[in-house]
Amino acid sequence: MERFEWYLPTRILFGRGQRQRVGEMTARYAKRALLLYGGGSLQRNGTYGMIAEALRAEEVTFAELGGVRPNPRLSLVREGIALCRREGIDFILAAGGGSVIDSAKAIAAGVPYEGDVWDFYEGRKTPKQALPVGVLLTIPAAGSESSDGTVLTNEEGMLKRSFCSEVCRPRFAILDPELCRTLPKEQIAAGGADILAHVMERYFSPTPGNTLSDRLCEAAMRTLIQELPRVLSDRDDMEAWEQIMWTGNVAHNGLLGKGNAEDWASHEIEHELSAAYDIAHGAGLAIIFPAWMKYTYREHPRKFVSFAAEVMGIDPGEEESMALAAIDRLEAFFREIGLATRLSEAGIGEERFAEMAQKACKGGTLGAFRTLSPIDVKNIFALAK
Ligand code: NZQ
Ligand code: ZN
Repeated sequence: MERFEWYLPTRILFGRGQRQRVGEMTARYAKRALLLYGGGSLQRNGTYGMIAEALRAEEVTFAELGGVRPNPRLSLVREGIALCRREGIDFILAAGGGSVIDSAKAIAAGVPYEGDVWDFYEGRKTPKQALPVGVLLTIPAAGSESSDGTVLTNEEGMLKRSFCSEVCRPRFAILDPELCRTLPKEQIAAGGADILAHVMERYFSPTPGNTLSDRLCEAAMRTLIQELPRVLSDRDDMEAWEQIMWTGNVAHNGLLGKGNAEDWASHEIEHELSAAYDIAHGAGLAIIFPAWMKYTYREHPRKFVSFAAEVMGIDPGEEESMALAAIDRLEAFFREIGLATRLSEAGIGEERFAEMAQKACKGGTLGAFRTLSPIDVKNIFALAK
């Protein structure tokens, strides 16, 4: 095992009806809050009204900023930073999914910083402090509700970049499965693929002998694969939503990869896809991850044998055929939930493979399971054609 240090300060409020506590939780931190949200789902499904009422009941005053879009943009973050400074905001309530939460983290780190918040994403500076952030989660997917990361797209050059810092972890996250009822099927599927990918990035590790982490990861993957089809056929299935929401959080709160060298190459590669083509992050992962597997499985075949046997239900057999059967079955799962597994099905051609491969590697290499150069990444794009 690798050495590790892990501290998870995010308070999780989990379960049906917990959304009602958003006022009480915000009041613990805020004199004046910023309510940050996305493109309108909150208004359409009544969540916005519920939040406003809960905040007023606790006498929390708030300003608001809507319009965070999927694959969130730097320009709105800059607008949010200016608004917070102008209005004397001391707390940000992010109501939405990864895009809203990541924008909230960026605004929170940007407000006390004298320079440009993009410095953090380029690695030029490290944030020393941030406003506290709280989350009302409306889609299980990115896991940003208790992660230390934030991912943002700079419209200048269409660069999708991330940074991780302990100052980014939200103070609390409310996970109420009843908020998931109104999710469109394509968002449910993309969110499911992202959750699975967060586990796989940690599971496909070159670190040997980390039995507990392996078993935890396998349980999380099996749960997701079992429960996701249930909510796709019945969005009111609260028991299934509970399992998915909890799995989504556990998949990315840091626990599952502890003691492992984690991979994350597929994520870096996907971020270039969603920067260049503006596709949903999870939809991109459903295309990239199987291609990454086909390219790398020979590096540590025993890991793929475990994945095949413990997660994908493949009968014992020869190593290579088990690995390939498991990859086939993963692709079949993605297709069953309505996701494309080839770039061509998503309308993406070969024109930008070389450029995206270079950008993904950022002048270095990617991955831990197998180290990837830009040429390898280009080959993975080719396998995903
Ligand atoms: O914008 P609105 O109108 O609210 O609609 C959203 C949006 O269109 C909709 N939605 C959310 N909850 C809903 C709902 N529609 C109906 N009912 C509800 N209850 O869903 C759409 C997608 O929202 P988004 O926030 O973009 O989804 P997700 O949570 O998948 O976040 C994706 C972003 O997170 C980043 C991704 O790169 C991507 O930019 N990630 C962040 C990570 C982190 N910070 O730790 C890790 C991840 O690997 C990921 O990279
Ligand atoms: Zn992800």
